[in-house]
Amino acid sequence: PLIRREDYVAPAFWIRTVDISFDLDPAKTLVISKMKVERNTAVPHGPLRLHGEELQLLRVLINGESVSFRQEGHELVIEAAPDADFTLEVRNTCAPEKNTALSGLYTSGGSFFTQCEAEGFRRITYFLDRPDVMAVYTVTLRADKTKYPVLLSNGNLADSGELDATRHFAVWHDPFPKPSYLFALVAGDLVAREQRITTRAGRDHLLQVFVRRGDLEKTEHAMNSLVASIVWDEARFKLPLDLERFMIVGVSDFNMGAMENKGLNIFNTSALLASPATATDADFARIEAIVAHEYFHNWTGNRVTCRDWFQLSLKEGLTVFRDQEFSMDMAAAPSARAVCRIQDVRQLRAMQFPEDSGAMAHPVRPDSYVEINNFYTATVYDKGSEVVRMYQTLVGRAGFEAGMKLYFERHDGQAVTCDDFAQAIADANPGSALATRLEAFKRWYSQAGTPHLKARGTYDATAQTYTLTLSQTNPPSPGQDSKLAQVIPVAMGLLSHEGQVLPLQLQGETEPAGTDRVLVLDQSAQSFVFVNVTADPVPSLLRGFSAPVLLDDGLTDAELLVLLKHDTDAFNRWEAGQRLSLNRILAAVRSGKPLVLDGAYIEAMRSLLRHPQLDSAFKELALTLPGEAYIAEQLEVIDPQAIHAAVDAAQNQLAHALRDDWVAAFEGNQVSGGYQPDPVQSGKRSLANLALAMLVLDAKRSGDTVWPGRAYQRFKDAGNMTDRLGALSALVNAHAELAEPALARFHQQFKDEALVVDKWFALQGRAAERDGKTFARVRQLLQHPDFSLKNPNRARSLIFSLCMFNPAAFHRTDAAGYVFWADQLLALDAINPQIAGRLARVMDRWTKLAEPYRSAAREAIVRVAAKAELSSDVREIIERALASD
Ligand code: ARG
Ligand code: ZN
Repeated sequence: PLIRREDYVAPAFWIRTVDISFDLDPAKTLVISKMKVERNTAVPHGPLRLHGEELQLLRVLINGESVSFRQEGHELVIEAAPDADFTLEVRNTCAPEKNTALSGLYTSGGSFFTQCEAEGFRRITYFLDRPDVMAVYTVTLRADKTKYPVLLSNGNLADSGELDATRHFAVWHDPFPKPSYLFALVAGDLVAREQRITTRAGRDHLLQVFVRRGDLEKTEHAMNSLVASIVWDEARFKLPLDLERFMIVGVSDFNMGAMENKGLNIFNTSALLASPATATDADFARIEAIVAHEYFHNWTGNRVTCRDWFQLSLKEGLTVFRDQEFSMDMAAAPSARAVCRIQDVRQLRAMQFPEDSGAMAHPVRPDSYVEINNFYTATVYDKGSEVVRMYQTLVGRAGFEAGMKLYFERHDGQAVTCDDFAQAIADANPGSALATRLEAFKRWYSQAGTPHLKARGTYDATAQTYTLTLSQTNPPSPGQDSKLAQVIPVAMGLLSHEGQVLPLQLQGETEPAGTDRVLVLDQSAQSFVFVNVTADPVPSLLRGFSAPVLLDDGLTDAELLVLLKHDTDAFNRWEAGQRLSLNRILAAVRSGKPLVLDGAYIEAMRSLLRHPQLDSAFKELALTLPGEAYIAEQLEVIDPQAIHAAVDAAQNQLAHALRDDWVAAFEGNQVSGGYQPDPVQSGKRSLANLALAMLVLDAKRSGDTVWPGRAYQRFKDAGNMTDRLGALSALVNAHAELAEPALARFHQQFKDEALVVDKWFALQGRAAERDGKTFARVRQLLQHPDFSLKNPNRARSLIFSLCMFNPAAFHRTDAAGYVFWADQLLALDAINPQIAGRLARVMDRWTKLAEPYRSAAREAIVRVAAKAELSSDVREIIERALASD
């Protein structure tokens, strides 16, 4: 059924405490839950309706007496619930080892784990499984002591001991009331890295990272990241760790990256384990960000939680913003901060922009859903984070911190809404650019779609004025035909054509107010007049990507070159380079003519690559062409092969024209000394890897054997995974002959490292397509003994790599890619609907495809839709895809 935001009603009952015990057995686990329940007198009198799925019910008692009930679909209905407070006892069993959906209580590698967000707790026991019902939990775990020596749940350990010769128990108590989605338990044969810390407040805490025996040496980076996160949140937002003990546990079967269960975060091992030999620099950075993200949820998510799931971005958007700020602060140097920002924006453009213009487009605060798991999206997370960033831009950093303080003063311990957050930030900043436009600003929560921002300037040399006209259009999206103007903060500056920074004085101001300021567009069009402008300026707009919009600034190549050379804003410097590339790629795709790069462009790229001051990390980003998904976003009709061909041509020409510079970049970016995943070292490795990829690519054209040979040597001798994988990837993409022995060797060397085997599959799934060979290989790899659809990381590594990240191999004129997609989707749906729901999203933008892709995609979607027993996850995505026709 469709759930609507406007239908929200508070629950008919509150559950205040939960005393829950588990007799853990993989085949049949007994759950006994005793709850203190209270009628909510603020809503109309009604029955008690508990959620429950895939459970065997044994008995239901109220105040110790059996009570009559009925089961209605996934609800247990008790008509005769008392008006006075009462105790409710439910006994049921569940089957963890049969739980392939990995939601609720399940087994992985012989241990027990839980995942309850969003609605997994109802697969453990009957409950009011909604985030506005917050209770204090006491959890008793009983299990075999040799198979499950470690027994964990949220909060503090209250008791533990032996039950008999074979079984033991542990009792955990979490003093903080929490919604059921934050419940967790873990039982298994695990070991922990431990560290004690004393926080500023002078309190001692025990930090633990639990993993399988043998993985302990891969937890150092996660532990360091956790310590850094704790220190940062106390320093930046004055938010301390509130539990004596903070635990993280790794599990290799997990649907998402990680989960912020109170005091007991559970992580996909891919987001936790790292060693220089098995993880890349990007993995190290991702682990740091995810450890921080889950830790930061302790305040933004757990202490203050969501009233209902429509408010998901209240915790996710805010927590992504916090982890992005943390990563920037950790990067420290201004140039490294800019690199973080560029990477976040690339991600937003690659994933969120396409989402926002496709069949699944939805507001940051959605209005309806069938399956909430389908709404853990780039929009809720990443656009949500951009919305939080705009608050900070509008009220300033100090103002934002004051707003956060007020938010916690008002709402600590509550389940609240996005409106409550907006109100707190505005109330802490009366008279600010936010407070004076709060209602209009909140359209960021209610209107889907990426706004189009247009900017045009005119210079009057005699009057020395520059008039900048900003206008916006907000294209329709499913269910939203017409939209109102958004509040768009436009951070900007002006440069002369010689690259001089110009002072900014708006008409009516008595003196210039700096060289960098924020204009706020809140109408469909507005003009801003700058006075005392001594030279025809080049505008640098949307600095730092100050709003999640598509910008058309109409700048010429000459103007973009000024920004590329001289902009003081590193983000816009990078952006100018991207725009130069984008313009050329789009012109080729639109005209159908082969892309030929011009000398001016190549010289600009050459001087970037040779630049004596710029960071290697920045150079790598600047010399990487825009992503194919973002390019597609600029086009009305998408021909994936034409886009790929243009990008490929640009790549080959850059490889050739800058050959000597790539050699210099490769030689000049070798890292000596011990491996550190810091911005300087990882920047050098990333540029050296790009240079190597370019040199191997150019060798394919020239027939040169030296660089492929060097790549193979580097692959063999590499001292870390970043270099090894970089060299392997260069061969896989451009040198078929050497790729074969290299891939075989890599598999042999790492066959016992599951996370590295994932990389091995992913590399082949993403490999450059040559005459259908990549596609054929992926199909063949489905039969590989190491492949399994049951493990989400493995399924993603092969299938998602092809369908989501390899458009040239996936979109085939013979439709075989779409047939593959439908087959794998149906197989996956029978095992794990959440993962299948993600794969279904591949077809979000099928209506924009050119023929013959469009018709073939439609046929594949219709075939999936025709299947009677689809999960609600996949059904919702597929129906929305068809409705977008
Ligand atoms: N709250 C988790 C995080 O952002 C993600 C949980 C996702 N769960 C799901 N069922 N989709 O860190
Ligand atoms: Zn989160």
